[in-house]
Amino acid sequence: MDSPQTTSDAALFWERHYRTRRTGDARVNPLLAETAAPLRPGAALDLGCGAGGDAIWLARRSWHVTAVDISATAVERVRERARELGIAERVAAEQHDLARSFPAGRFDLVSAQYFHTPFPLLRDQVLRTAAQALRPGGLLLVVDHGSTAPWSWNQDPDLHFPTPAEVAAELDLDPARWTVLRADMPHRQATGPAGQTATVIDNVLLIQRAAG
Ligand SMILES: C[S@@+](CC[C@H](N)C(=O)[O-])C[C@H]1O[C@@H](n2cnc3c(N)ncnc32)[C@H](O)[C@@H]1O
Repeated sequence: MDSPQTTSDAALFWERHYRTRRTGDARVNPLLAETAAPLRPGAALDLGCGAGGDAIWLARRSWHVTAVDISATAVERVRERARELGIAERVAAEQHDLARSFPAGRFDLVSAQYFHTPFPLLRDQVLRTAAQALRPGGLLLVVDHGSTAPWSWNQDPDLHFPTPAEVAAELDLDPARWTVLRADMPHRQATGPAGQTATVIDNVLLIQRAAG
């Protein structure tokens, strides 16, 4: 894998995305909160952390979080927010193009929330690497859009969101070492950046590495 520094089209796209948007006090994603709330805090990895709502939520609950994004601005915002909240020692925010480099470490929870990009990305490879980075008993949570919210940046009508079963099939993990705990498509009421609401579908895949 190459150096984490990149000026690829994807990096420029996402950098512009975060530079031109105020992200403020980013909220935690509901399915991450639902999954992590009952767990004992440990080491977590947030893939494509964006403005850091999930990373900050986890760190405030005593998790040690590695938050990774391709956008330097997003990564810096997570760092700044962690400093402001006095939890900087529990947040390592790192810039990586995950197509090229992957953070070091072993994790009890790896989360990929809406890790979608309009650029070619071998996402299954990234998620397979993430599964390998789990400690025994660790969880990999992949939450994808299952429908397009009216306020989404991507309104392409031909967009196909992979189902949880498709994501699991792409990962092709050894069933003797990884167990699918959850693969479903719940509906929820979501709130957009301007306070507007809509029903959206999430595609949820939760995988556990064997304890032994
Ligand atoms: C749709 S956003 C989701 C952000 C965040 N997880 C959330 O739930 O709000 C996708 C994120 O993936 C990041 N991303 C896209 N391609 C990436 C790559 N190759 N390596 C690392 N991060 C990437 C983007 O910068 C963006 O923050």
